[in-house]
Amino acid sequence: MEIFHISAECYPVAKVGGLADVVGALPKYQSNEGHNVRVVIPCYDTKFIKENEFECVHWGHVKLGQFNFPFSVLKEKKDILGFELYVIEILELFDRKEVYGYEDDIERFLSFQIATLDWIIGRRDTPDIINCHDHHTGLIPFMMLYVNKYERLKNTPTVMTIHSGLYQGVFGFDKLYYLPEFDLAHFTILEWGGAINSLAAGIKCAWFVTTVSPNYLNEINTSSNGLESLFKSVRNKSKGILNGIDIKVWNPNTDQFIPANYSVKDIEQGKNASKERLCALFELDPTKPLFSFIGRLLYEKGADLLPEALAMAMTENNKSINVLILGSGNKKIENELDDLLIDYKGNYNNFIGYNEELSHLIYAGSDFLLMPSRVEPCGLNQMYAFRYGTIPIVRRTGGLKDTVIDIGDNGNGICNDQATVEDICSSITRAILLYEDKRKLNALRKMGMDMDHSWSSVCKEYIEVYQLIIKKK
Ligand code: ADP
Ligand code: GLC
Repeated sequence: MEIFHISAECYPVAKVGGLADVVGALPKYQSNEGHNVRVVIPCYDTKFIKENEFECVHWGHVKLGQFNFPFSVLKEKKDILGFELYVIEILELFDRKEVYGYEDDIERFLSFQIATLDWIIGRRDTPDIINCHDHHTGLIPFMMLYVNKYERLKNTPTVMTIHSGLYQGVFGFDKLYYLPEFDLAHFTILEWGGAINSLAAGIKCAWFVTTVSPNYLNEINTSSNGLESLFKSVRNKSKGILNGIDIKVWNPNTDQFIPANYSVKDIEQGKNASKERLCALFELDPTKPLFSFIGRLLYEKGADLLPEALAMAMTENNKSINVLILGSGNKKIENELDDLLIDYKGNYNNFIGYNEELSHLIYAGSDFLLMPSRVEPCGLNQMYAFRYGTIPIVRRTGGLKDTVIDIGDNGNGICNDQATVEDICSSITRAILLYEDKRKLNALRKMGMDMDHSWSSVCKEYIEVYQLIIKKK
């Protein structure tokens, strides 16, 4: 099968969060199964793109209303990622350091989608499947069905994979003229809540919709930032497929970023080496249990609850715990987390920013990983935690509910139900008790490390979806 994945991120080329991890791993596993897999993302100003060799395989001009942007399709020459990587170079719009967050994001991602389809339509072969990821690629299924110049792609099956229903790529109808010519009778398909909604259009037009965990599929029917009724109406063409992880990139036995490699046979020794390194770097006491958080400091991650919850947990437990935060995002949360440095020096530290290498050391060296998420479509951090023998403490939501079962139910982690300071604190208290029971702690660490969350078992589910819709052609 020839499969195209179209996305805004792909690890290690350009990463903001888990979307990159998925788009950097699933295609590799599909490729190992014998499929011809191509990943297409914009060409940002990133280290990976600077350091690797690319060749130009196509060029043209994207027309966006009165604007005209030259673009090139560059292919990474050696397929070092285990699939064919293509980056769409539109210098004026993407030659920048960040993936998102610019005023012209609508123009940027619309141009990316049009350039991608202009290239695909110009190729001799038509793909068997186009798998779009999140709202940045949500207009592709619509354009393939209704834009005149893409007529030949009408019968090419599309899958819309939802990593987040919160962000939808909404813009006004004043920009409708950006889209290439299509039969205006269809313009209502683009509409949701009075505006053009890229994600809604993708959900309506894709041949199939997947979410990144089964439980998230249930949740979005009742909570998805205004798209609830739409998700309900497409239930018969939807499936929740739990994300996997790349067990080569995330492997304590070979990880280059940790001081001592380890496996289930020497968990304690291995984890201690990483913990000592971390504690030395961040001036913490390695004899105390270490609680960490890694992630985007946003409301949906419950990160706003952390400053108060951590202060309370450290005070109530007489500073018998250590806490380490790695993340960036909301400035108010960043400042509040920095404020904790004053009163809790020696017990608390943080790294405000993004650091891939440090994240590996934290997964390995921590005892517990906090994930108090309000919304978590899947969550990869808890699976990385398991892989490194770290116990996740999660709020039961989205994919966290699918992957973490409370120790009270003979499970693999600590769970709570409310996104509140109190729930986080009581989970930390339970974790302290667990930490003191070394036999139980070690059995749990082993249980986590023995679990198989690899893509190899999950990637088949995507192929089954593709086969199902190809049959409908
Ligand atoms: P999301 O995609 O919603 O941010 P996931 O749990 O799916 O959440 O994936 C987050 C990914 O981003 C993981 O690979 C995690 O290690 C990584 N990550 C998040 N914040 C940082 C950071 N500040 N530094 C390094 N890695 C980070
Ligand atoms: C999104 C979600 C996260 C998920 C990731 C990869 O960023 O917030 O829960 O794990 O995508 O699918």
